[in-house]
Amino acid sequence: MTSSAAALPEEFPKIPALLAEFRPRVALVLGSGLGGFADACDRLFEVPYADILGLPLSKVPGHAGKFVGATLGGIPLLLAMGRVHFYEGHTARTIAASVRLMAKLRPSALILTNAAGTLNRDFAPGGWLMLKDHLNLTGASPLTGGANFFDMTEVYTPELRGIFRQEASVQGLHLHEGVYACVPGPQYETPAEVRMMQVLGADVVGMSTVFEAIQARALGLQVAAFSCLTNWAAGVSSAPLSHAEVMEVGQQAAAQLCTLLQGALEKIEEI
Ligand code: HPA
Repeated sequence: MTSSAAALPEEFPKIPALLAEFRPRVALVLGSGLGGFADACDRLFEVPYADILGLPLSKVPGHAGKFVGATLGGIPLLLAMGRVHFYEGHTARTIAASVRLMAKLRPSALILTNAAGTLNRDFAPGGWLMLKDHLNLTGASPLTGGANFFDMTEVYTPELRGIFRQEASVQGLHLHEGVYACVPGPQYETPAEVRMMQVLGADVVGMSTVFEAIQARALGLQVAAFSCLTNWAAGVSSAPLSHAEVMEVGQQAAAQLCTLLQGALEKIEEI
């Protein structure tokens, strides 16, 4: 170890032993309304984010998060239930802290989930999209602070996408694939911004996931990410957007993702 590395303070000085000693095969971040996935698993332990020094806490009332250690079909999983967002005023680096912590437990893959508005008229609300790429429209990066010129050609691991694609077809689930545009929020987009993103090649828009994906890849994890299409983006339909609608559609669609993940996890174990 060089003397400069030795001088760096440990980012998470006191990780609770239950978590520090857990060796998940796969880590999952469960986004808005997708917490139901945890109910399908056998829970082993819970650690509130508030018990982990160095981890940011949500500033949104009622959004306190926790890690859940669990198994599904005998496969050890680490579930991150709840995340912090850029619109709360956290930096991109802070938002990715939970990924740096999870990476210490050496899962082979990280699966990210989110709620998103759909810009693509062929991808209706209520469905699921697997990310094949993203547009980071926040102007920020979790890697800021060093000269980490990291290759981003394949953020969303092709082998994982292949496993999910195949499992979705076995299950008869129509899984879209496309490009996720990440915006800072917290306000939803204007119709002009939505048209801009359509021209740029985005299929869906949301306010999370990309910082976590960048950080995870930079730490050598395989990454897959899924958007629950909760609403038409502004101007795509004439209906105004509501947070209540986003939460409700997310909850209804969660069951489909649970089944897809359950089927795919066994295969992920093999890669
Ligand atoms: N825009 C941005 N973020 C979102 C949306 C949206 O339409 N729906 C869910 N998250």
